[in-house]
Amino acid sequence: MKKLMVTIFGSTGDLSMRKLLPALSRLIVEDQITKEIEIIAVGRRAFSNDDYRDYVQKNKNSDFDINTLKDVLTYYELNIDELSDYKKLKDYIDQKTNEDTVKLFYLAVAPELFPTISKNLGESHLVKKDHFNDRIIFEKPFGHSLDSANEIKKLLWQSFSEKQIYRIDHYLGKAMIQNIIMVRFANRIFEEIWHNRSIKKVQIIVKETDSILSRGAYYDKSGALIDMVQSHLLQMLSLVAMEVPLSYQSEDLKNEKVKVLDQIRFDQNVKLFGQYKGYLEEKDVHNQSKTETFVFLKAYVDTPRFKGVPFYLMTGKKLDVKASYIMIEFEETNEQRKWNLPLSTNKLYIKIDPLDGVSLVLNSKVPNLKDEVEQVELDFCSACRDVGNRVEAYQKLLLDSIEGHKTLFARWDEIEKSWTKIDELKKTNSNLYVYEDYEDLKNKIKREFNEEI
Ligand SMILES: NC(=O)c1ccc[n+]([C@@H]2O[C@H](COP(=O)([O-])OP(=O)(O)OC[C@H]3O[C@@H](n4cnc5c(N)ncnc54)[C@H](OP(=O)(O)O)[C@@H]3O)[C@@H](O)[C@H]2O)c1
Repeated sequence: MKKLMVTIFGSTGDLSMRKLLPALSRLIVEDQITKEIEIIAVGRRAFSNDDYRDYVQKNKNSDFDINTLKDVLTYYELNIDELSDYKKLKDYIDQKTNEDTVKLFYLAVAPELFPTISKNLGESHLVKKDHFNDRIIFEKPFGHSLDSANEIKKLLWQSFSEKQIYRIDHYLGKAMIQNIIMVRFANRIFEEIWHNRSIKKVQIIVKETDSILSRGAYYDKSGALIDMVQSHLLQMLSLVAMEVPLSYQSEDLKNEKVKVLDQIRFDQNVKLFGQYKGYLEEKDVHNQSKTETFVFLKAYVDTPRFKGVPFYLMTGKKLDVKASYIMIEFEETNEQRKWNLPLSTNKLYIKIDPLDGVSLVLNSKVPNLKDEVEQVELDFCSACRDVGNRVEAYQKLLLDSIEGHKTLFARWDEIEKSWTKIDELKKTNSNLYVYEDYEDLKNKIKREFNEEI
């Protein structure tokens, strides 16, 4: 009998090729998971096992060897609308598994297909309600508004319990995102000053240089607010602003994150939605689309700890560099204010991409005979240290879902609160600014809001 059965819907898609199969392969090769595993690649194409392996070989990442999966990978043709196909799949899986087998059903498909597939998974009893070894994994975005997310939730809760549902936000699988909690709570120098008396502002930035590439059909229906802010940026914000959790168990952490999401207030006078020049000519984009490819927001977290501290959220495509980081800027010291020297504020950077790590910017005397000061950076580059040995986000998330650890997966109330805030923001109209490049956006933000980014 197999100990682990991983069934992937959307097995011919980009996510499966570039992330899921390589991550599973690494977990097997590194002995992180059982070798008593079968991966069932579900698809609508009439492939044999060999055809599918050839297809993966052609579309995979360069460093992934399909041979590592040759004994455990099976292609399974299925029509996602046909309940009888799911029942046949159940018969196939039942022959090879027992009650102790962990069964993951990974929906690596567009969100429009979630309702059909999850309904059929429930009705065919492939996933049995309250059977916690049967787990269903979804990719974000989880809906496109609070109402649509609620619809999906209702449907899911008819067939599965919340404990069986794993909502993936792959950002939470990134090492440095998990490290935010460690940096904050396990270092006295930060824990003691993590409040509005010491913190001047927070920036949460995810910049991309790419355009939407070939993702027009998906992107034009979502945009930067739904694709990035609702999930990744609000998750980062809640980790920075949350109170000390009762414990580091999944539920206690989520309880604190939800409280932060509830207390976020966007400044309606400081927000910019942009669209890069040329977006309307992209493939699969509506020629009068109002979809934003850039968002700049100012928010407050109305908790005693962070009241009054501005949080700037910014994300966009076709910007100057690819960079994802959180910057915490601290207040000047009293003495510093009195000195007539060009001193700057201390800044803590939590760097997520492309090279993750932590750095701290300090004032330091220039070692010369004059009274000159300079900003110096204490820089810890985690990525540089672990070259060739990086744990990919999907590897961590798959391992956690196999082991039943839910810390890095979004709970329903986190989704609910974040959609509530995003829907509120969407209700208030915002003109779309067509931008040339990042410089253009920076100047616009300075001119219009007198804010520096
Ligand atoms: N790609 C990434 O890096 C990435 C990252 C984060 C999240 N995601 C999320 O992951 C999900 C999948 O993304 P993706 O990039 O892999 O998309 P994709 O490349 O477009 O793949 C979609 C998959 O769904 C299948 N499919 C589409 N319509 C179908 C239908 N009617 N019946 C059966 N199968 C159908 C496709 O099968 P065919 O090949 O037969 O068309 C393909 O296997 C999305 O929710 C996306 O937001 C992706």
